[in-house]
Amino acid sequence: MNILYAVSEAAPFIKTGGLGDVAGSLPKALCAEGVNARVILPLYSSIAEKWREKMQFLFYTTVHLSWRRQYAGVYSLEHEGVIYYFVDNEFYFKRGKAYGEPDDGERFGFFSRAVVEIMPLLDFKPDIVSCNDWQTALIPIYLRYEQAEFYREIKSVFTIHNIEYQGRFIEWCLGDVFGLPRELYDSGIIRYENDINLMKGAIYKADYVTTVSPGYAWELRNPYFACGLHKVIEDNAYKFSGIVNGIDMQRFSPENDRHLPQPFSADELSGKRECKRALCRELGMDENDDGPIIACISRLVSHKGCDLISAALDSLVSKGVRVVILGTGDSAFENRFRDAEYRHRGRVSSNIMYSEQRASLIYAGADMLLMPSKSEPCGLSQLIAMRYGTLPVVHAVGGLRDTVRPYPLDNSNGFSFGDYSTDALLGTVDYAVGVYYNKEQWRSLMKRAMTEDLGWSRSAKEYIDVYRKITQ
Ligand code: GLC
Repeated sequence: MNILYAVSEAAPFIKTGGLGDVAGSLPKALCAEGVNARVILPLYSSIAEKWREKMQFLFYTTVHLSWRRQYAGVYSLEHEGVIYYFVDNEFYFKRGKAYGEPDDGERFGFFSRAVVEIMPLLDFKPDIVSCNDWQTALIPIYLRYEQAEFYREIKSVFTIHNIEYQGRFIEWCLGDVFGLPRELYDSGIIRYENDINLMKGAIYKADYVTTVSPGYAWELRNPYFACGLHKVIEDNAYKFSGIVNGIDMQRFSPENDRHLPQPFSADELSGKRECKRALCRELGMDENDDGPIIACISRLVSHKGCDLISAALDSLVSKGVRVVILGTGDSAFENRFRDAEYRHRGRVSSNIMYSEQRASLIYAGADMLLMPSKSEPCGLSQLIAMRYGTLPVVHAVGGLRDTVRPYPLDNSNGFSFGDYSTDALLGTVDYAVGVYYNKEQWRSLMKRAMTEDLGWSRSAKEYIDVYRKITQ
């Protein structure tokens, strides 16, 4: 089975969030299960020279985007056994950032159109194109309109990583930019209010739709979570399900992490103590203080629960908990956290930055990871934290509810609260701190979290089941 995995970012080449991690690890796991998965993504100018040097130029072609005729160069590179195709066009991809440009619609319209037109020119004919988020949502739609024999058998899967970003554009883009027929708008398939909505169109036109956890799949039928698309999800429920994300167990491992002063594992936890000391030294905290450190590694935006965290900070500190924050985002939150650091020197550390090295040290050195997201399609930080023996404290929604089994349940690997409120958060941290001081108990929770199978193999099999179902 040949799978072309179309995506707007993939680690280690370009990553802005969890989508990049998934695209950098799921295809490898699919290959390990015996399918032939290849990835296609834009050749952004920010992709490092060390990768470009290894790329091989395959060919170029002209892509038809409505009345436009645009150059598309195709490069390829093999990385960890997976073949990646990169679509080159400097007009669209030589920009400061991957997303957030005023012409994003045209840029990803071009990319999606390019994927469709490049396919017959590759020495690889996909049985399925596996598409991800709005940036590739046009592909399942385009495939329905292709007349050539080549496309007849090709199926599409569309995966929703986050329903908050739907790809909404002004109506005239439909024909003038995307080159699609008016009927898509008039029939309501791609129309949302008076705009066009690419995610909506893909949900209708793809052969199958997935999202990144069963819990989120269930929540998306509810208007509270679905950002206006609950009816669309309901309509398409017959071809919709959730498959939980995994992580790359090799990449996220305290045994192999070169950023750590000392490696550790579930059997040899002494390195974790050393990491906690190193973290304290680096952040100007007392390294002899044995009290709990709770970390938050996240984009600093409201739906990740930053409003709860900032409301809870002073109380956490007064309970003797030290708080470490890492991330960037809304300047209001960045400033509130900087201010908290200023007011609580040595108790709160706000690292308003993006740093993989600092993230590793925090995952390894902290005792708990706080993740009170208002909604969370899957979430990867809680999984990474578990690998490092740092127990997650989460709001029980979406993928967080699916992956964190709260203490004191059998087999628990973390803590969770049901209400989205500061009181619920504080109550649960209090409870976790009580368990933290019961050293035996805490150690057994850590070990369980660290030895859990959080890799891709089970989920890769579920993707393959979906791929099989639609090609039979
Ligand atoms: C998005 C979601 C996150 C998920 C990731 C990968 O970033 O917000 O919950 O883990 O996609 O699927």
